[in-house]
Amino acid sequence: MNTRFSKIIIALATFFIATTLLQGQKQQTQDGEKFQWFGDAKLGIFIHWGIYAVNGIDESWSFYNGYISHKDYLKQTERFTAANYDPDYWAGLIKKSGAKYAVITSKHHDGFALWNTKYGDLNAVKSSAAKRDVLSPFVKALRKNKLKVGLYYSLPDWSYNDYTHFTRNERRYDIKNEPERWNRFVNYYQGQLTELMSSYKPDLIWFDGDWEHSGEEWKAKETRDLLHHYQPNVIINSRLRGHGDYDTPEQGVPIARPKSEYWELCMTMNDSWGYQHNDKNYKTANQLIRIFVDCLNLGGNLLLDIGPKADGTIPEEQVKILEEFGRWTHKHKEAIYASNAGLPFGHYYGPTTLSKDLQTLYLFVPHRPNGPLIIKGLKNKINRIRVVGTGTKLSHQILSKQYWSSVPGLTYINLPEGELDDQMTVVAVQLKGKIDLYREDGQVIESN
Ligand code: GLC
Repeated sequence: MNTRFSKIIIALATFFIATTLLQGQKQQTQDGEKFQWFGDAKLGIFIHWGIYAVNGIDESWSFYNGYISHKDYLKQTERFTAANYDPDYWAGLIKKSGAKYAVITSKHHDGFALWNTKYGDLNAVKSSAAKRDVLSPFVKALRKNKLKVGLYYSLPDWSYNDYTHFTRNERRYDIKNEPERWNRFVNYYQGQLTELMSSYKPDLIWFDGDWEHSGEEWKAKETRDLLHHYQPNVIINSRLRGHGDYDTPEQGVPIARPKSEYWELCMTMNDSWGYQHNDKNYKTANQLIRIFVDCLNLGGNLLLDIGPKADGTIPEEQVKILEEFGRWTHKHKEAIYASNAGLPFGHYYGPTTLSKDLQTLYLFVPHRPNGPLIIKGLKNKINRIRVVGTGTKLSHQILSKQYWSSVPGLTYINLPEGELDDQMTVVAVQLKGKIDLYREDGQVIESN
């Protein structure tokens, strides 16, 4: 090969590699930008609103599991009035709680749609006492309050005649025997998604129920492309058979940090997603705030659920919890929004977060301390320590630092009783430079 020719080849190859790398980088930053609002949001409100609120029974599952006949279940449509529904109040309350987005059940597994879909008649307009589209005004109210719009959409539709599953014990058909029928269902559900995407341009789609079929059967990849066609920046939760963007653990707070970069715990305030008048097993605001902080500590979001009644009012217990969240999140906003996951276990007895620039460490104090707070293994010098929300400066002491050892001393912080928040106090430790932790095993005394 002559040298000129090989130079051309090398130049071309370099150009090719450089452009591919650049494209990769661009893709990454675009993705980073796309997820930024979600990563920074930290708190979202989940809303399960549907006909199941009428009797106060399990959403969809009550007929699927045979506790009520399908016919009686559907009778609830007659008393789904939305008579006192005030979407502006809903959105205002969500905003006040400190949440940055909401995810509402546009359609649950029972197939009852909150909007005026032209696919089928089982919806708030054509077959409920409300006789109107109850989704559009809520989406509008969210936008007015500058909240991001998330739509929950159940892939299974147990009421639809061309869907395979009807109840736990009854299947309508098998896809291999009636592929045409299944295709009709896929067109139906993708048609509904097209309506949602084109009318609302949601920021997030929250799928559910993907476990009933494989990715190929759902045509999951095609569905993902369809959503992106209408809204290139839409974020999709994990329940689309491997075609989603972020993980959604449910009810149980993860103990170790989940592997995916973005994740969100969804959780009920009592034991039910939808409104159930008999369910008074509410967690307290304090318990829920602790759960929220556990999510922050591991770098995730909390999607906290409410279940409005059939007339559109939000149960009083739920309003109170949202208001208490509002007080607490407002006071401690700097430690919450856009924060990074906190310290690995071992450095502090409790949850922590870090500011975006990694120069402020936030210590959450879940209990009344009976002595100073302690940080172990912190190499940074400390510029200032203060109470978040009040600004009170706190004194600290570094003990057990040996001049000959690289092991940092123990940082003791005095937190006076009068500074404690009713729910959870937060202390900001302003560091000199980015957080720098000692992560080794310790050192023996070689000289004294
Ligand atoms: C489960 C249930 C469903 C509920 C959802 C919320 O998947 O099937 O009823 O809406 O959890 O995450």
